[in-house]
Amino acid sequence: MASTTYNDKTQKVGITLPNLLLKQTDEIRGDLPRSANVHALIIADSKSMPEIKSESIHLVVTSPPYWNLKKYGGEGLGPNQAYAKYLYEIKSVLKEIKRVMAPGRFVAINVGTAVSNDGMKPINADVVKMMEDLNFTFKKEIIWVKPKGTQGLWQRGVTKFLKSEPYPCYFSLNMMHEYILIFQNEGQMQIPLERLSEDFIKKVSWSIWEMRVSYTKGHPAPFPYELPSRLIQLYTVEGETVLDPFGGSGTTMKVARDLKRNSFLYEVNSEYIDLIKENVGWNSSFDSDTRYEIKIRKSITS
Ligand SMILES: C[S@@+](CC[C@H](N)C(=O)[O-])C[C@H]1O[C@@H](n2cnc3c(N)ncnc32)[C@H](O)[C@@H]1O
Repeated sequence: MASTTYNDKTQKVGITLPNLLLKQTDEIRGDLPRSANVHALIIADSKSMPEIKSESIHLVVTSPPYWNLKKYGGEGLGPNQAYAKYLYEIKSVLKEIKRVMAPGRFVAINVGTAVSNDGMKPINADVVKMMEDLNFTFKKEIIWVKPKGTQGLWQRGVTKFLKSEPYPCYFSLNMMHEYILIFQNEGQMQIPLERLSEDFIKKVSWSIWEMRVSYTKGHPAPFPYELPSRLIQLYTVEGETVLDPFGGSGTTMKVARDLKRNSFLYEVNSEYIDLIKENVGWNSSFDSDTRYEIKIRKSITS
C-alpha cells in the first residue's frame, strides 16, 4: 500500500523574526500559553497536521472547498473529483481534526449543498454523518442567508425558468443559503466562564444568520469576516487556539488575531501566501506581541 511521507521544507516568507522559524515552529507544537498571540500558516495538505499536538485545538472554524464548483488552483480537493472521492478526502481531514481537538470543544463547518446535473449533493448531511462516525455530537445547525442577488440576480438556470420554460416541473432556484454545522468533541471541556454581552447574544441566538458575502479579492470563495468572528466569540476565550484546515484567503486567521486568539491555518495552494499575508496584515504592526510563522511543507507520495 502506498504510504505518504513528508519532506519538511521549511521556509520563511517575510516574517519579522529572522532565524527563529524552525525553533518557533517546534515551539508552536502543542498547547500555546494563553498569553501567546501566535499565528502559524502551514502550506500543506491538511489531511495530515503533524505541526499540531493532539488535543490542543480549542475551536475549528472552516469552509471546505466546494465540490465541483470553484477552481482554487493547486492540488486541493474539490474540483473535478467524483463525489465519493471528495467525501473520502474530506473525511481524512475530519479524522485529523478529531486528533487535534481538545476534549469537549467545538468544530464549526460551513458548507453549501452542491447542485449538479445528476441531482443535488447533500454535503451538509454527509458531513454530519462523517462527524458522527468520528464520535462528534451534532449540536447546532445555522443557516447563513446571503442577500438576494449575491450570485448575480438571476442564475442561468433560473433565467431559463423565467424566460423560456415558465412551467410546472421546470422550477429552478437561486441558491442564497449555506449551512454552518456545529459539532462537539467527546470529553470534558475546560473553559473559563467569561460573560458575553447582551447585544451579541441577541444577535446570534437565532438559527438564521443574515450576513453579506465577503468582498475579499483574489480568492474564489472567502467567507465574510462576520462568520468566524461570531463563532470564535461563541466558542473560545482570549488566548485560546483556533484552527482552519482549509485556510483560503486567511479570514479565520485575521479574525483570530483581531480577537486575540492564536491560530493555525492550513492551505494547500502556495499561490495564496501573499494574499493571506496581505489580508491578515502580516506586515503591519498590529501589536508588537503578535508573531506570524510560515512553514511550507512538501508532501511526497511513495
Ligand atoms: C472554500 S475555500 C476556504 C475559504 C476561506 N474560508 C476564506 O475565507 O478565504 C477552501 C480552501 O481549501 C483549500 N484546500 C483544498 N484542499 C485542501 C487540503 N487538502 N488541505 C489544505 N487546503 C486545502 C483550497 O485551496 C481553498 O483555498
